[in-house]
Amino acid sequence: MSAHTISPQEYEEFRAFLEGACGIVLGENKKYLVTSRLNRVVAEYNLGSLSELIRLIKSDRSPDLRDRIIEAMTTNETSWFRDRTPYTALDQLILPDLARTRCDTLRIWSAACSSGQEPYSIGITVSEFQIANPGVLSSDVQIVATDISPAMLRVARSGCYDNLAMGRGMSPELKKRYFRPRGNRWEVIAPIRSKVQFRELNLLRSYALMGAFDVIFCRNVLIYFSTASKRDILERITPTLNPGGYLLLGGSESLAGVSDFFQMIRFGGGVIYKRKP
Ligand SMILES: C[S@@+](CC[C@H](N)C(=O)[O-])C[C@H]1O[C@@H](n2cnc3c(N)ncnc32)[C@H](O)[C@@H]1O
Repeated sequence: MSAHTISPQEYEEFRAFLEGACGIVLGENKKYLVTSRLNRVVAEYNLGSLSELIRLIKSDRSPDLRDRIIEAMTTNETSWFRDRTPYTALDQLILPDLARTRCDTLRIWSAACSSGQEPYSIGITVSEFQIANPGVLSSDVQIVATDISPAMLRVARSGCYDNLAMGRGMSPELKKRYFRPRGNRWEVIAPIRSKVQFRELNLLRSYALMGAFDVIFCRNVLIYFSTASKRDILERITPTLNPGGYLLLGGSESLAGVSDFFQMIRFGGGVIYKRKP
């Protein structure tokens, strides 16, 4: 593949496009990364140059290309029970509390679910809680998992993972209980899959159709956004959380601008946020 270069003006135009399309802010030092990722798209679409690609993106005539660019520029890094503490908090603090205070369906939102490990880890944690505490959780649990990337959502919906993905955080014991072999991959069992509903959602757009939640995982996505976008997303996520509900952010993310609405709870070396009544 012959590598095409990007001019300073095209780089600025691309940065503005990407931030407007999905919130991701590219630093000045990302030019090499951007060029190499965009060159792959130039080759895939048989285009003559990076300049042609930038012109096509700006003309907004190809939604398919737009999705492909967002996909090329996003980080989909994830793993089972990532960082552990949020799942321990769900098991030891959040579910026991909600079991006491709520009797209708518990709704949990995984707000940037990538290839599905986060919502399925939530489903497995809920199931383990129900096994260890029979009858305590009287309500059904529904998990809604969203992401901007159609390709990640396809993997997530398939519920099938190779050995490499399984090796990232899934214990042999839980693998045995919650997965079945399918060819050389592992498929999440139906009772867990049926708890999870996947939908495409850009966090920069409206949440009007999402409904209200008792727990929201919004983890390891806000770090890529500007302070203004983080604040805007958190301001709009807050009203979708029922009073007394819980918000879990990534280890390096914090409640920019909406802290008045939340009580901070220190748990296992991290912080979780409970919406004030
Ligand atoms: C690093 S992964 C985090 C996955 C998971 N939450 C975790 O902590 O393991 C970030 C995800 O955010 C998604 N994403 C990026 N920008 C987004 C946006 N504007 N709206 C929704 N999802 C977005 C990406 O597609 C990617 O799957």
